[in-house]
Amino acid sequence: MPFPDDFLWGAATSAYQIEGAPLADGAGPSIWHRFAHTPGRVAGNETGDLACDHYHRALDDVALMAELGLDVYRFSLAWGRVLPEGRGAVNRRGLDFYARLVDALLEHDIQPMATLYHWDLPVALHERGGWLNPDSPHWFADYAETLFRALGDRVPFWITINEPWVVTVPGYLDGQLAPGHRDLFEPPRVAHHLLLAHAEAVAVYRTLGRQQIGLAVNLEPQHPASPSPADLEASRRRDAFINRWFLDALMFGRYPEELADIFGPAWPEFPAKSLEQIRCRGDFVGVNYYSRGLVRAAPDVAPLGAVRLTPSDAELTTMGWEVYPKGLTETLLWLRDRYANPPLYITENGAAFDDPPPRNGRVEDPRRVAYLRAHIRAAAKALEQGVDLRGYCVWSLFDNFEWAEGYSKCFGLYQVDPSDQTRRPKASARFYREVMASRGAAAFQEPTPPTAGYAADTAPRDARAAPASRAD
Ligand code: FCB
Repeated sequence: MPFPDDFLWGAATSAYQIEGAPLADGAGPSIWHRFAHTPGRVAGNETGDLACDHYHRALDDVALMAELGLDVYRFSLAWGRVLPEGRGAVNRRGLDFYARLVDALLEHDIQPMATLYHWDLPVALHERGGWLNPDSPHWFADYAETLFRALGDRVPFWITINEPWVVTVPGYLDGQLAPGHRDLFEPPRVAHHLLLAHAEAVAVYRTLGRQQIGLAVNLEPQHPASPSPADLEASRRRDAFINRWFLDALMFGRYPEELADIFGPAWPEFPAKSLEQIRCRGDFVGVNYYSRGLVRAAPDVAPLGAVRLTPSDAELTTMGWEVYPKGLTETLLWLRDRYANPPLYITENGAAFDDPPPRNGRVEDPRRVAYLRAHIRAAAKALEQGVDLRGYCVWSLFDNFEWAEGYSKCFGLYQVDPSDQTRRPKASARFYREVMASRGAAAFQEPTPPTAGYAADTAPRDARAAPASRAD
């Protein structure tokens, strides 16, 4: 059994995706609130107005997490609940919500892992240029300090920013996610400011003498679709673009050289001093892993010159993402080798499938069970090879607001009934409870034969369209 006893098993969520009540108790609106309320931005024009109503059910939800057996719960704080204007006056009622959540977690022996920024920038800051403003790292550090001072004695793990690549590329280059910009010149500056924001927040955290802070990146190994030199080169560029952009900056204080080529005239000269500043390993790296990239050269597709293919013979999730557990082992070994074996937490891993409605109160999701089992085994393989992996969080605890996809994509261990907010454990929740209770061993037992309801979840693969994903 490769998982040590102190390995942390958990589940993850984020504020805008589950809380609902985005303007309650004096909170300031976020760019996601505004984006979701702009017609045509989110599938079905759905919003996070209600989501899982977690804002009003947090204590019950913590009880449910305890029943499930989580060691750690990864959640995010909405910046605008705490600082409605993004800076300045603290909104006590917003802060109290998180203080109550943290206390409830601790009462149930669940360790809080708090993400400071999971994409919901206050509109007030966006109107000052948001992440394009060179002051944005200071805004972030001040916000972080407010929380470190209020909750730092009770929150053992902090994540500064979730997936800076997703903030940068779907947010400012492709326009699929808030704030929905499409501009070649903005992403390099946004990325740089996010990295400075991380570094400044870590510096503040250190002045308080604390030690468990990191950043969470989305990673996916990039494999060429063919051995042709063009596809090899395309996969190398995509690897620089997605995997190395932020990590090389954090670990080495430099950007991969491919980026200057990808962005051409839009790539600025960054002052050497600021490059030195963004070199900031933190105490751990959070890894969000879902799939791999199968890459084909596409010279006409600017700026990358590469596209991600959807393999026709592979199992796909409803996000159109290939189920590829081996890529998790590969990613973890790559981190070990390239970045001198940093401490790692898998901060997100999971899959969206079309789950059947409950039958006799049960939701059968055998494909998610299989996905989780395979990925936990893949993580174990990396542990056996010396990767310093310390924990694993399923994305996600609940079916929730999946950004531009609205509620159409379900990742949860629990189904949430939109009519009355009942949380129903899926078979994957029962499976994961066994995994946690056995400290990982249950993931190595052979699956039990499928129960009734299996058929509903196994529609032929080719009958489903593979929708475009934000990773394309
Ligand atoms: C990640 C996000 C998370 C969720 C999953 C499916 O990129 O961090 O909020 O949307 O994808």
